[in-house]
Amino acid sequence: MSAPAAPAAPAAGGAGGPARGERLKEGSKEHDVRTANIIAAKGVADAVRTSLGPRGMDKMIQGQDGGVIVTNDGATILSHLQVFHPTAKMLVELSKSQDIEAGDGTTSVVVLCGSLLNACSQLLTKGIHPTVITAAFQAAGEKAEEILNTVAIPISLADRDKLIQAAVTSLSSKVVSQDSGVLAPIAVDAVLSITPPTATNVDLRNIRLVKALGGAIEDSELVPGLVFSKKASHVAGAPTRVAGAKIGLIQFCLSAPKTDIENTVVVSEYSAMDRILREERKYILDMCKAIQKTGANVLLVQKSILRDAVNDLSLHFLAKMKILVVKDIERDEIEFISKTLGCAPVAHIDSFTPDKLGAADLVEESNAGGDAKVIKITGVAHPGRTVSVLVRSTSTLVLDEAERSLHDALCVVRSLVKKKAMIVGGGAPEMEMSLQLQRWAKGLTGMQAHCVRAYAEALEVIPYTLAENAGLHPISIVTELRKQHAEGHKTVGINVRHSTISDLTEESVLQPLLVSTSALSLATETVCMILKIDDMVVVR
Ligand SMILES: Nc1ncnc2c1ncn2[C@@H]1O[C@H](COP(=O)(O)OP(=O)(O)OP(=O)(O)O)[C@@H](O)[C@H]1O
Ligand SMILES: [Mg+2]
Repeated sequence: MSAPAAPAAPAAGGAGGPARGERLKEGSKEHDVRTANIIAAKGVADAVRTSLGPRGMDKMIQGQDGGVIVTNDGATILSHLQVFHPTAKMLVELSKSQDIEAGDGTTSVVVLCGSLLNACSQLLTKGIHPTVITAAFQAAGEKAEEILNTVAIPISLADRDKLIQAAVTSLSSKVVSQDSGVLAPIAVDAVLSITPPTATNVDLRNIRLVKALGGAIEDSELVPGLVFSKKASHVAGAPTRVAGAKIGLIQFCLSAPKTDIENTVVVSEYSAMDRILREERKYILDMCKAIQKTGANVLLVQKSILRDAVNDLSLHFLAKMKILVVKDIERDEIEFISKTLGCAPVAHIDSFTPDKLGAADLVEESNAGGDAKVIKITGVAHPGRTVSVLVRSTSTLVLDEAERSLHDALCVVRSLVKKKAMIVGGGAPEMEMSLQLQRWAKGLTGMQAHCVRAYAEALEVIPYTLAENAGLHPISIVTELRKQHAEGHKTVGINVRHSTISDLTEESVLQPLLVSTSALSLATETVCMILKIDDMVVVR
C-alpha cells in the first residue's frame, strides 16, 4: 500500500498521469457526450433569445393541423418546438417548471441556462472537472440569490399601484402591451378579490379566463361572478334576463332516452309511432315540471356525449315555464360553477331538490360585439370565492395571446402574494449579481474562484440580450451598465423606452423577486444536471 501522500500511479497509456480532470482514454467519450448535450441545449436557448424583453420579437408557430399561434411567451414557444435530443428536452422542461413555479420569466430562464452552459463548455475545454464546476456553480447560485434578496424592495398587498406596475412590466413584452393599462388592473384586482391580505398563496384555478370573440381588448372586464361566452336558448321566446335568479346545474339529459347502439326499434304502424311520441312528450314534460317545482328559473345544462342534453321539445317547455337555459356547459367547468354560485351539480332528476340551487341577483345575456353574445351572472350569494375575467378581441390570434399574457400577469401577482418583494428589471439585478459575485470570487481560491467568475459573467447575458433586442449596441451598453453598478447605482438598468441606461425605479420597471430567484435556481440546477451526464444509454 502506498502512503497517502504518494503521487497517483500514472494512468494507463498516459505519460505523466492524468493531465486533465478525466482519464484520457475513456475521457474522450464522456467529453463527446457532454459536448453534444451542451450544443443541443444551447440550440434551444438560441431559439428563444430574440423574444426576450419589451422589444423582443414574437414567434409564429404553425401546427401540423394548419393552426397558427403568434406568441412571445417562452414556455408556449418551447412547448410547441419539436425537439428530439433528450438534453434539449430538458430545456423545454426547464421553461415549463418556471411556468409552474413563477409563471413569468420562462424566456429568461432558458436564455440564462444557455449562457451558463456556454460558460461550462469553456471551463471544460480548460480541463476543469465537471464536478468542480458543478460545486462552484451551486455555490454561486446560492450566493446570487442572497444578493438578490439584499437588493429587493419589500411590498405590501395593500399597495395596489406597485402590484399594477409589476403586472405592466410583465405585459410590456407581449403583443398586447399597448393594452396593459386595462389588463394589468384586471389581473391585480382579480387576484386581490380572492385573496385575503394575509394569504401566502393564490389558487389561480379560482380565476376563470373567458374568451369572447368580438369587441376590443380594452372592453375586457372583471366579472365578480360568472360569465359564459355563449348564447342563452332563444327557443319559443325563452327569457334572456332573469333577476333574483335561482340557478340549477344539471348533468342529466332533457331528451328522450336512446336505445343501445346495436338495437333498433322498428315501428310498423302509425298508432305505435303516435304512442312513442306521446310517451316522449310526457317523459320530457314530467322532467321539466320537476325542475319547475324546485323553483329554479335558470338552468345550466352540462354537455352530453351520449345523446342531446336538451332538445327542441324540452327547450320549448322550459321557455314556457320562463326558465332561462344555458346549454353545453363543459364537464371541467362544473366545479368552478358550483363553487361560484354555491349550487350542487345534479346527476339525476330524482335528486333535484331546492337545496341544490344557487342564487344570484341577475342573469343576463348581452351583446359582445357583432353576433357574439355573453351571459353574465352577477350578484352571487357568496362573492370572493372565485372571479371571472372576460377577455375580448376581434382576432382569434390576439385573443389567444391576450389570454396567455393575462395568465402571465396573474402569475406575477401570485408571485408577489407568495413572496412579498420586488426588484427592478431591465437587466439591473443580473448586472448587480454579476458584479457582486465577481467581488466575492476574489476572496475564493483555485478552480472555484475561476468557475464562480465564469458564472458571474454568464449572468450578463440578460442585459446583453435586452440591449441587443432593443436595437442598442450591446457591448457599449453592458460596459456602461457595469460601470454604473460598480459605482454603486444598483437600480440602473436598460431603459428600453428611451434607448439608454437609467435608474429604472423612476420608470417603474418592477418585477417580482420570486420570478428571478426561481429562474436562477432552476437554471443552475439544470446546468448541473446536464454537466453530470457522462453517457447516454438507449434502451428498447
Ligand atoms: N420596460 C422595460 N424596460 C426594460 N426592461 C424590461 C421592461 N419590461 C420588461 N423588461 C425586462 O424584460 C425581461 C423579461 O422579458 P420577457 O417578458 O420577454 O421574458 P420572460 O419574462 O423571461 O418570459 P415570458 O414572459 O415569455 O414568460 C426581464 O428581464 C425584464 O426585466
Ligand atoms: Mg415576461
